Amino acid sequence: MSKVEVLLGLQWGDEGKGKIVDVLTPRYDVIARFQGGPNAGHTLEFNGIKHVLHIIPSGIFHKEKLNVIGNGVLIEPAIFKGEIEALREKNVEPTDNLYISKKAHLILPSHRLLDAANEQAKGNAKIGSTLKGIGPAYTDKIARTGIRVGDILEFDFREKYQLLKFQHIQIAKMLKFDIDAFRINDMTLDEYEVEWMESLETLRKFKLINSEYFINKCLKDGKKVLAEGAQGSMLDIDFGSYPFVTSSSTITAGVCTGLGVAPSSIGRVMGITKAYCTRVGAGPFPTELFDATGRTLCEIGHEYGATTGRSRRCGWIDIPALRYACMLNGVTDLIVTKPDVMNDFDEVKMCTDYVINDRETDEIPFEFNEVEIRPKLRSFIGWKQSLANIAKYDALPAPLLAYLSAIELHTDVRIMAVSISPDRKDVLFRN
Ligand code: IMP
Ligand code: MG
Repeated sequence: MSKVEVLLGLQWGDEGKGKIVDVLTPRYDVIARFQGGPNAGHTLEFNGIKHVLHIIPSGIFHKEKLNVIGNGVLIEPAIFKGEIEALREKNVEPTDNLYISKKAHLILPSHRLLDAANEQAKGNAKIGSTLKGIGPAYTDKIARTGIRVGDILEFDFREKYQLLKFQHIQIAKMLKFDIDAFRINDMTLDEYEVEWMESLETLRKFKLINSEYFINKCLKDGKKVLAEGAQGSMLDIDFGSYPFVTSSSTITAGVCTGLGVAPSSIGRVMGITKAYCTRVGAGPFPTELFDATGRTLCEIGHEYGATTGRSRRCGWIDIPALRYACMLNGVTDLIVTKPDVMNDFDEVKMCTDYVINDRETDEIPFEFNEVEIRPKLRSFIGWKQSLANIAKYDALPAPLLAYLSAIELHTDVRIMAVSISPDRKDVLFRN
């Protein structure tokens, strides 16, 4: 009996999960997504090609590997179809190695309408949602009014769809949202609905399965399964900076409910952090930099959202948040990405504690969104050199190694690898 290994982001998403999963895939037989939906954007780069995945697991480029979209994921069929077509354009044929849970919930066009209506109704308190319908679709799941992938095979699917859509329209009207002016990809709701309905055909051609049985059988047969997280721990519905969070369990616990595996079946947990910190959308960000350094991180790091194109907020690494994420997830191994973005920095900083009302703490306060948090910063000398052509962890420049050991010391977790460029080949594993 083998165990599920987990790979997830420890910050506010965009830590480089897609790339790392792609690199780790050869070690596994099955790659599974357990939560989130098309709000995610996992960027992979290899052979000079850049590719963005939204709900398809990052193992899809390895044709002998099985990829599973678990029950905890949300599927927007038209976006899914687009993703499949983009893969086919790159000569990747996913029909045979992508399995989809029948229990995964669907995002309807009217969920996307509601997402926009909710954000508008919030006014200045906007979350900065990706507007892919995530919040409303998970709301319906929990309210027991959602529609699942398996329902598209049933005779009464259209009826269920119409009923739910009707309810959504009523809510949008109540929120005084201008439904007629609403557009998805320049289409009205009704126009987009036609495209959405057509794309169900694409979805029907895939293996729609009870993925909990499939995954557990794989484990029983000794197959190696990797659960690939989306977003990050600080966007978790329970423990993130609520309400500036996404609507799913992004932490290790989400693997159990999002794939149907027992807690005792979870093995290694690999947590990814950038060497600095970014956040897209609204909400607290204690180490955010509003100066030239912040802009440099954004430019050199190409910190623009893979799903929305928005520029990401940037700042120094946040140890209290990272320690919190390691605790919540039971992280056994750390992976650090993008130190190369800071190659030219004279000085690199790390927030070791928060100062709130003149008191130091290393805990995330309940009033995270309301209180003013001053980061207590520790300074490190920059390594001031390119990391290109470095092939071994131990060959990294001494100042960078010092910075990395400080991360280990503060989190009490060993770093297993460092990624020093967007390319697949530049992940330095430690012995
Ligand atoms: P939603 O998940 O689209 O509702 O967005 C809620 C919040 O999570 C917003 O601040 C988004 O910017 C953020 N978010 C959602 N998905 C991602 C992601 O994959 N990476 C980074 N931020 C995300
Ligand atoms: Mg992303």
